[in-house]
Amino acid sequence: MIAMITCLSINKCSIASTTTHKHSSNIITNKKMSNIRVTVAALWCVVVVFGGLTLSSDAQLDTSFYKKTCPKVHSIVREVVRNVSKKDPRMLASLIRLHFHDCFVLGCDASILLNNTDTPTKIESEQQAAPNNNSIRGLDVVNQIKTAVENACPGIVSCADILTLASEISSVLGGGPDWKVPLGRRDGVTANRTLANLNLPSPFSGLDTLKSRFLAQGLNTTDLVALSGAHTFGRARCTFITNRLYNFSNSGKPDPTLDTTYLQQLRGECPNGGNGNNLVNFDLTTPDTIDNHYYSNLQVKKGLLQSDQELFSTTGADTINLVNTFAKNQDAFFASFKASMIKMGNIGVITGKNGEIRKQCNFINKKSAELDLASVVSKESSQEGLVSSF
Ligand code: HEM
Ligand SMILES: *[C@@H]1O[C@H](CO)[C@@H](O)[C@H](O)[C@H]1NC(C)=O
Ligand SMILES: *[C@@H]1O[C@H](CO)[C@@H](O)[C@H](O)[C@H]1NC(C)=O
Ligand SMILES: *[C@@H]1O[C@H](CO)[C@@H](O)[C@H](O)[C@H]1NC(C)=O
Ligand SMILES: *[C@@H]1O[C@H](CO)[C@@H](O)[C@H](O)[C@H]1NC(C)=O
Ligand SMILES: *[C@@H]1O[C@H](CO)[C@@H](O)[C@H](O)[C@H]1NC(C)=O
Ligand SMILES: *[C@@H]1O[C@H](CO)[C@@H](O)[C@H](O)[C@H]1NC(C)=O
Repeated sequence: MIAMITCLSINKCSIASTTTHKHSSNIITNKKMSNIRVTVAALWCVVVVFGGLTLSSDAQLDTSFYKKTCPKVHSIVREVVRNVSKKDPRMLASLIRLHFHDCFVLGCDASILLNNTDTPTKIESEQQAAPNNNSIRGLDVVNQIKTAVENACPGIVSCADILTLASEISSVLGGGPDWKVPLGRRDGVTANRTLANLNLPSPFSGLDTLKSRFLAQGLNTTDLVALSGAHTFGRARCTFITNRLYNFSNSGKPDPTLDTTYLQQLRGECPNGGNGNNLVNFDLTTPDTIDNHYYSNLQVKKGLLQSDQELFSTTGADTINLVNTFAKNQDAFFASFKASMIKMGNIGVITGKNGEIRKQCNFINKKSAELDLASVVSKESSQEGLVSSF
């Protein structure tokens, strides 16, 4: 028997087979043969489909995914982000960071948006993981975007895609590059705080740790250096730099890779024993703009976090040349930033019929249904005696 199985897409597998019976003594009936053939075909399809998915996780994403179902999605997201950022310019940075912290934990599935819940399934929110607690911003803005998008195209656009779109839009509004955003992510139904603590890099990490955290997500050294360039805008809290200012590695001295003038400035902004929640600009010259100053700052020992300065000040590191390239050539930085943002946006995406399109970004749909039901019940009981529509 020769069987040719073709899978054009997930649902469309066809089988063409020719069977030759050389001996009439063959006891396998034709019916059994065709059953076997169908089973073989199904198995082959499974192998082909899953093989394809693992080889390229973004196989299902498409820049025109919502062209027919929600053609205005980009402009709707843009309008909300633009409105908010007029009053709060930092929000552009906060939204990009939210996408990064989503993608590094269970892939870009909007798991970071899920709140703590006990029912119908227990969710331990990533929002309270160490890198996120009292640190991430923009959850309310994402909900505002979701409401605006739902008004235009209910039940169509995932929260994961909203985070990705908001990041590209934030790049553009911040003066950075634009790109065509691959879309079609679906929302996950789980979160994992433990993984958030494990996967997200720390500002006290050395270069090897930074590299390995990125490599674990399929991102290489170029991606690490390009994406760290997001620290060209936004703020950090004093708590992440006080050790560099006063007692680096318990030496009793400041970090030697910190410029001494910048050190004095930062000490003014973050007094020893002062409020660790005070904010410092990442970029000392253009704090709300995406440009290549991040890299020229590193060249003169004016990186804010230890993890930033490591990229340039680690002896013999292969990241030094990349920093120099991006410092010299903003177009090269923008080209790499685009490519790496798209790559990051493809991490572990859920597509097709998996996952769901959340109705409310902070809850899986089963939870939203539970909450809807509760609100219907409470409305009905408050209108007791007035409603008898059955
Ligand atoms: C390389 C490893 C990284 C480390 C160790 C790191 C660490 C941090 C820390 C500690 C803060 C300040 C948080 C606070 O004060 O509460 C921060 C802020 C920020 N990070 Fe990173 N980050 C890294 C990579 C990235 C990447 C890849 C992106 C995006 C592509 C990014 C985007 C941002 C932005 C935009 C802010 C400012 C957020 C705001 O102002 O709200 N970071 N990061
Ligand atoms: C954006 O702001 C303008 C002007 O304040 C307002 O008319 C518009 O409704 C806002 N759009 C959204 C989506 O919030
Ligand atoms: C989800 O949790 C955040 C705090 O992490 C809170 O600000 C937000 O209001 C919660 N969202 C909902 C819909 O309860
Ligand atoms: C998150 O921060 C709050 C303080 O705002 C603190 O009470 C809480 O214990 C922290 N959560 C975790 C899980 O560390
Ligand atoms: C979260 O991830 C950790 C580390 O991979 C794993 O051990 C744990 O079972 C996961 N927890 C949940 C609730 O999925
Ligand atoms: C990182 O990956 C990109 C493609 O995703 C590639 O162009 C680049 O050369 C790689 N960089 C290194 C250092 O391997
Ligand atoms: C630096 O930290 C070490 C260890 O915590 C401590 O013993 C030392 O007194 C500190 N030095 C200064 C100058 O604060």
